[in-house]
Amino acid sequence: TNLQDLEVNGVRYQRDEFTNVRPSILSHLSRNIYLQPNHPIAIVRSLIENHFGSSFTPITSLPPIVTPRQNFDELEFPADHPGRRPSDSYYLNKDWMLRTHTSAHEIQVFRSGIPKWLLSADVYRRDEIDRSHYPVFHQMEGARVVEPVDMRQLAQENKELERALGKVNIEVEDLSSTGEKNPYQPWHNKEHALLVNANLKHSLNGMIYALFGNLAAQRGGKPLQVRWIDAYFPWTGPSYEVEVLFDGKWLEILGCGVMQQAALARSSVPSDRVAWAFGLGLERIAMVLFQIPDIRLFWSQDPRFLQQFSAGQVTQFKPYSKYPNSSKDISFWLKDVEVHENDVYDIVREVAGELVEEVKEIDRFTHPSTGRSSRAYRIDYRSMERTLTNDEVNTLHSEIGSRLRDLFSVELR
Ligand code: PHE
Repeated sequence: TNLQDLEVNGVRYQRDEFTNVRPSILSHLSRNIYLQPNHPIAIVRSLIENHFGSSFTPITSLPPIVTPRQNFDELEFPADHPGRRPSDSYYLNKDWMLRTHTSAHEIQVFRSGIPKWLLSADVYRRDEIDRSHYPVFHQMEGARVVEPVDMRQLAQENKELERALGKVNIEVEDLSSTGEKNPYQPWHNKEHALLVNANLKHSLNGMIYALFGNLAAQRGGKPLQVRWIDAYFPWTGPSYEVEVLFDGKWLEILGCGVMQQAALARSSVPSDRVAWAFGLGLERIAMVLFQIPDIRLFWSQDPRFLQQFSAGQVTQFKPYSKYPNSSKDISFWLKDVEVHENDVYDIVREVAGELVEEVKEIDRFTHPSTGRSSRAYRIDYRSMERTLTNDEVNTLHSEIGSRLRDLFSVELR
């Protein structure tokens, strides 16, 4: 056997120039926190599944290793889309990657013929390090396919959804330019597309009220404010983003739209069907609903975290203690090797895992006469569970330095 091969769940992947997954990332593949009934991520998942009801089939067992074709091509992403770069996504090799969104499964699920479904899964992205970013998070994808014979029934359903929304304390502002800059698809039956578009809006407004309505009520009974804005996704049109006003800030909750017919056709869905789809981030919603201040907590195995939550209940997280942080800077000269900031973040995660709260780039300059480039980062170390010793932090910090030196030949300053 080739020691250079990666092995994940008994399958070998031959390393190549795309390979950038690390053991610290792969260790998350088997955690399945979204399937643990008492975990906040699973609680939000069930709230949404229960809201949509049993006519929507839940799908929760699709493995995270997909092809770039599934993650990008089938969804009409252009060949030069930045998300495809190994600096932004995790690859096992050029043929296999960790899905960056649950949309990677849309085509296969539509192909299975299920008309209404909700798919939840872990997704992976190379990104910055702070309290709301973690390289692994969870999304839920939902979709509905409508046949022409069901149009009259859908019109009726839309009326009922609209009536129900009229009775609750929600204020929806539609800032989108549907039909103009955010066009309907010319090949659709217009009436059918309008009905599906309206059903998408009413369905998602209803779901958002089910999630956040109580919270708005507790906060002085003001209406829950929701707004719809134009968005662009290569596989939907019209496309939208939906935001909710929370603590005076607009929080992006989801992306959605009417499925592009070219993408649906790839699933062998008959051309007279029209479908909608949405995708949302479960962590972001859970952080707001449970008042969880740091995304790393979702991965905690500490009973002081886990025992606070139980299935079906949204309760406020009670912080057990905030342990002291320790802030350390690292700076280095680059040699001939380019270093992407996501490479630095991955090394920090690899060495210090969840003991790092935030990494900020604090300096980047090129020396005017020598032409040498320098970078500096500030790393905030803090455990969610205990006080870190100086020795421990120093060891982690110097290990990060050595790895940067070994992998990128940088010269530490
Ligand atoms: N996958 C998109 C994202 O991660 C969300 C989305 C899903 C948009 C389905 C449109 C349709 O941002």
